[in-house]
Amino acid sequence: MSDYDSGSGCCRCCFSFIITLGLTSLFLWLSLRTSNPVCSIQDVYIPALNTTLNSTSYKSIYLDLKLDNENKDKGIFYDLLNITLHYYINESNRDQTRIPVSNYTLKGFYQGHQKKARRKNWTETYGLPWDAAVKTIADGGQPVFRVDLTTAVRFKILFWKTKRHRLILRADFEVSNKGQKVQKKGTRLKSGAPELFSGKSRVASSLVVLCTFLLVFI
Ligand SMILES: *[C@@H]1O[C@H](CO)[C@@H](O)[C@H](O)[C@H]1NC(C)=O
Ligand SMILES: *[C@@H]1O[C@H](CO)[C@@H](O)[C@H](O)[C@H]1NC(C)=O
Ligand SMILES: *[C@@H]1O[C@H](CO)[C@@H](O)[C@H](O)[C@H]1NC(C)=O
Ligand SMILES: *[C@@H]1O[C@H](CO)[C@@H](O)[C@H](O)[C@H]1NC(C)=O
Ligand SMILES: *[C@@H]1O[C@H](CO)[C@@H](O)[C@H](O)[C@H]1NC(C)=O
Ligand SMILES: *[C@@H]1O[C@H](CO)[C@@H](O)[C@H](O)[C@H]1NC(C)=O
Repeated sequence: MSDYDSGSGCCRCCFSFIITLGLTSLFLWLSLRTSNPVCSIQDVYIPALNTTLNSTSYKSIYLDLKLDNENKDKGIFYDLLNITLHYYINESNRDQTRIPVSNYTLKGFYQGHQKKARRKNWTETYGLPWDAAVKTIADGGQPVFRVDLTTAVRFKILFWKTKRHRLILRADFEVSNKGQKVQKKGTRLKSGAPELFSGKSRVASSLVVLCTFLLVFI
């Protein structure tokens, strides 16, 4: 009888240890989990492709970007943001060549939790085949461009900063005969390789998986 009692006591102790471990790592995971900022193209204007204007003498592009920190309680430090625009030579075949036509850099900044930031910029272009783009529109087509955004971010969790996470995002957009983005809603920039867990939270989330496994197993 005493043997049985001591065995069950040990088992109970072990069980509550595992529960505590599980809850602790769940809490850690919840508080260390970070979401990358959501970046989107809100607006585009390319005067040279506005057919009413009928002139390609103004060769700049206007781009309105939105950066959205959706984290409930984590700030984001942005490094320099590099933005590059590409033009697809053949709008109906995006596997084919695209050429870089513009780039600019935005200053890094700090963004508090659940804050949105807008960056509206005019950027010069180089080497864009304007005549071909105008012809595409005249033929009833829609020239296609691509925006690439590269930067690195650090998250502020309470009083400390995480290490840098590289962010490589991109999106295509089509241009109408008014020189505007065809899609009226914001166009979200997406990562080439989606990351499920980032940095620090990877350790915590594997702990959660381990504890869940142990709980189920026992
Ligand atoms: C296109 O050009 C016309 C003529 O200058 C102008 O009235 C119109 O506002 C322009 N379109 C856009 C979208 O700015
Ligand atoms: C556009 O401008 C060119 C000259 O630059 C002119 O020949 C042509 O008729 C114009 N087209 C329209 C639709 O106004
Ligand atoms: C563009 O790509 C389409 C689809 O692959 C092809 O049919 C067409 O000939 C290409 N146009 C040019 C100008 O290369
Ligand atoms: C950025 O644009 C400048 C011209 O404004 C060009 O000389 C440079 O090569 C471009 N850089 C990249 C990385 O495309
Ligand atoms: C881009 O626009 C922001 C304001 O939206 C301005 O502060 C910044 O200087 C501009 N940067 C460039 C490179 O044009
Ligand atoms: C942004 O561009 C600058 C200059 O071309 C380069 O030094 C920097 O490493 C780039 N940053 C990122 C995050 O790609």
